[in-house]
Amino acid sequence: MFAALLPALAFAAAAALAQNSTSDVTQAFIHANLVPDVLPSFNPGGLLSVVYTNNATGGTIDVTPGKNLTVQDVLLRPQVSLTSDNSTLANETFVLVLVDPDAPTPQNTSAAQIRHILAGGLRPNGSLADGTLLVKSTPAVSDYLNPNPPAGSDPHRYTVLLYVQPENFDIEVSRFVNASTPIFGFNVSVFAQELGLGSPVAGNFFIAGPASNSSAAQSITASSGASATTQSQSSSGLTSASIRSIGIGLVIALRVVLIV
Ligand SMILES: *[C@@H]1O[C@H](CO)[C@@H](O)[C@H](O)[C@H]1NC(C)=O
Ligand SMILES: *[C@@H]1O[C@H](CO)[C@@H](O)[C@H](O)[C@H]1NC(C)=O
Ligand SMILES: *[C@@H]1O[C@H](CO)[C@@H](O)[C@H](O)[C@H]1NC(C)=O
Ligand SMILES: *[C@@H]1O[C@H](CO)[C@@H](O)[C@H](O)[C@H]1NC(C)=O
Ligand SMILES: *[C@@H]1O[C@H](CO)[C@@H](O)[C@H](O)[C@H]1NC(C)=O
Ligand SMILES: *[C@@H]1O[C@H](CO)[C@@H](O)[C@H](O)[C@H]1NC(C)=O
Ligand SMILES: *[C@@H]1O[C@H](CO)[C@@H](O)[C@H](O)[C@H]1NC(C)=O
Ligand SMILES: *[C@@H]1O[C@H](CO)[C@@H](O)[C@H](O)[C@H]1NC(C)=O
Ligand SMILES: *[C@@H]1O[C@H](CO)[C@@H](O)[C@H](O)[C@H]1NC(C)=O
Ligand SMILES: *[C@@H]1O[C@H](CO)[C@@H](O)[C@H](O)[C@H]1NC(C)=O
Repeated sequence: MFAALLPALAFAAAAALAQNSTSDVTQAFIHANLVPDVLPSFNPGGLLSVVYTNNATGGTIDVTPGKNLTVQDVLLRPQVSLTSDNSTLANETFVLVLVDPDAPTPQNTSAAQIRHILAGGLRPNGSLADGTLLVKSTPAVSDYLNPNPPAGSDPHRYTVLLYVQPENFDIEVSRFVNASTPIFGFNVSVFAQELGLGSPVAGNFFIAGPASNSSAAQSITASSGASATTQSQSSSGLTSASIRSIGIGLVIALRVVLIV
């Protein structure tokens, strides 16, 4: 009898926790003004776990909403997991977006939003009730650009959102974001609306300031909150391509646009 009950109890506990904590996430988004700065409203149906591995120490960093991180912490593409008691989501494919609404600075958002990740084709690799890694099967539309706010800037709010992927996403997305689309001046709400993504099912965010505040004036115009990094394929597979050369191109493009 106990054996039969236990799984049900475990499920109920996970569901209750997820339920409780999603309202905590909503509160954190509201408290940080991400509602309304990034989203008109936010009612997640699950918890998005974002885990970074520090490239220097090898230690993992579990992002809780509003956590302060360093640019060193967030150098490498994170792994993401979803916990949800909504069983319909188990069979869905997801789109992951990471945006910076505070570029180049929270006081001057003329370059916002910066698109730090845009990737579809993420699928749950286990039980959503217990929380499971989302594994990527297709190349990212925009590969990971590590957060790197300009010297002198106040910290930025890096916002991670997960949407259910609609049927024709892979075909439709290139009309809105492709190789010639700048990474700045993005608007995730408009993007979601145009592609029929609906409201995000889960989200998270972290805060990161510049590595140093030296030579503030010139850096603010030059780097605008984004920089590129080269990465090898990770097991989460959040895309494989090396983007150093694209990144350099983007930084040059940013310079031209932002300085002119
Ligand atoms: C659940 O949420 C309520 C209301 O936000 C809060 O008072 C409570 O501490 C939370 N419980 C847990 C375990 O997080
Ligand atoms: C991560 O660390 C390794 C070894 O120190 C280094 O070769 C690599 O360039 C680092 N990656 C990034 C993105 O800085
Ligand atoms: C993050 O850092 C800021 C400034 O140092 C501090 O006011 C805030 O309480 C910190 N937030 C958390 C969640 O630790
Ligand atoms: C579960 O997720 C689906 C999206 O796949 C959504 O349409 C539905 O409203 C959600 N159900 C609940 C109870 O939130
Ligand atoms: C999940 O999707 C596959 C392929 O569309 C389908 O065959 C399967 O029945 C679905 N499973 C559930 C639980 O909806
Ligand atoms: C840089 O200066 C800004 C503005 O004074 C401050 O918010 C931020 O915490 C500073 N960053 C560092 C790494 O000292
Ligand atoms: C590429 O994206 C831009 C928007 O950045 C859009 O104007 C253009 O039509 C897209 N190109 C194609 C071939 O869809
Ligand atoms: C994004 O677009 C929406 C709808 O047009 C608008 O209300 C919102 O202010 C825009 N957000 C940013 C950061 O530009
Ligand atoms: C997906 O799940 C399977 C079975 O649990 C496991 O062997 C595999 O390593 C997982 N994939 C990733 C990328 O973690
Ligand atoms: C805002 O930042 C842009 C770079 O994105 C810069 O060109 C502009 O001068 C800045 N405006 C103010 C008022 O500082």
